[in-house]
Amino acid sequence: MKYSHLYAPLTLGDLTMRNRIVMAPMTRSRARQVDDAVSSLQVAYYGQRADAGLIVTEGVHPSADGKGYNRTPGLYNDSHVTAWSGVTDAVHARGGLIACQLMHCGRVGHALNKAPGTRFLAPSALPARAEIFTESGMMPMPVPEAMTDAEITAVVDDYRQAAARALEAGFDAVELHCASGYLPAQFLATGSNQREDRYGGSLANRLRFVAETLAAIISETGAGRVGLRISPGNPYNDHIDAKPLETYSALLQLADRLGLAWVHAIRMSSTGIDSLALTRKYFRGALIGSDSFDAGEAERFIARTALDAVSFGRAYIANPDLVVRFACDAPLNALDKRTIYAGEGASGYTDYPMLAERNG
Ligand SMILES: Cc1cc2nc3c(=O)[nH]c(=O)nc-3n(C[C@H](O)[C@H](O)[C@H](O)COP(=O)(O)O)c2cc1C
Repeated sequence: MKYSHLYAPLTLGDLTMRNRIVMAPMTRSRARQVDDAVSSLQVAYYGQRADAGLIVTEGVHPSADGKGYNRTPGLYNDSHVTAWSGVTDAVHARGGLIACQLMHCGRVGHALNKAPGTRFLAPSALPARAEIFTESGMMPMPVPEAMTDAEITAVVDDYRQAAARALEAGFDAVELHCASGYLPAQFLATGSNQREDRYGGSLANRLRFVAETLAAIISETGAGRVGLRISPGNPYNDHIDAKPLETYSALLQLADRLGLAWVHAIRMSSTGIDSLALTRKYFRGALIGSDSFDAGEAERFIARTALDAVSFGRAYIANPDLVVRFACDAPLNALDKRTIYAGEGASGYTDYPMLAERNG
């Protein structure tokens, strides 16, 4: 076997992956806009990819307020539990593992993407200076409301309830999205958090929201079923921190103390921070690396223990049988960028050909 390290099993927390190929979390905007529910479309999509060592779902909002993008799925009521159960059943039927990525967008979003009456909650009343896709075109982001203490407590509890619902829906684990300028990252960063209470100011205070959220999730799932996604220094969605190296070093030490199963780090050389090496320095659990890997590079990183597993994003959109293709060094289908986000349609979602179909 050419990629013997990539195809070796890996135990991370309470889970044992049968290979080290992870499907990266990817928002595909195909949930039902009317009720934020997944359907048979997502059952087929994730089921096709179930031979990955681990699937991490697209970002899933833990409350209606937490939604920011068009047609993204939620996990905050019983119907959502039932809908997601279909997805987890399809993955488990093929022997796979699936984690639910919890993503609260905070100040990132637009009213056109959210249910009427929902709110934009954030650490401070500062808008993200960026635009977001809506069905009426790109729009500037709104000025959010600064959360009160009671609202912070309520949002932390929304995450806890979503974690409980994730287990009820059959998910094997939960990944907290703490990257790319969404709510947890908004609390971490000095640019978006200008609070003067115990959730802002000092580094310890800026970490508090993430610490409380992780503790709430762990109270439902245990730490062995929790992962953390980070992208230190990534300015996406106006995520600006004065000292990202310091901030993320402290966050990783927190993740280590809590005994999380994994950290899922996006490497981004433009930030000047080696997020993979930084994670290895402070975190003793499993490290999943992300961004522009191919099978050969993934194999090399795992062989020299720089990573334990590698996630693949865009390659997984176009290649449902990526695990099979890597194993036989088969060519990959090209990604059709026009259908990455495309309403409720199956086109570009569940109709990429498998290798057998291509050869047959
Ligand atoms: C269409 C698309 C949607 C994405 N949505 C998410 C998301 O919901 N949550 C997340 O943490 N990362 C998201 N990402 C980032 C990917 O997980 C991954 O880090 C990125 O695509 C780089 O990996 P790749 O080079 O293998 O594609 C998304 C990426 C793409 C291309």
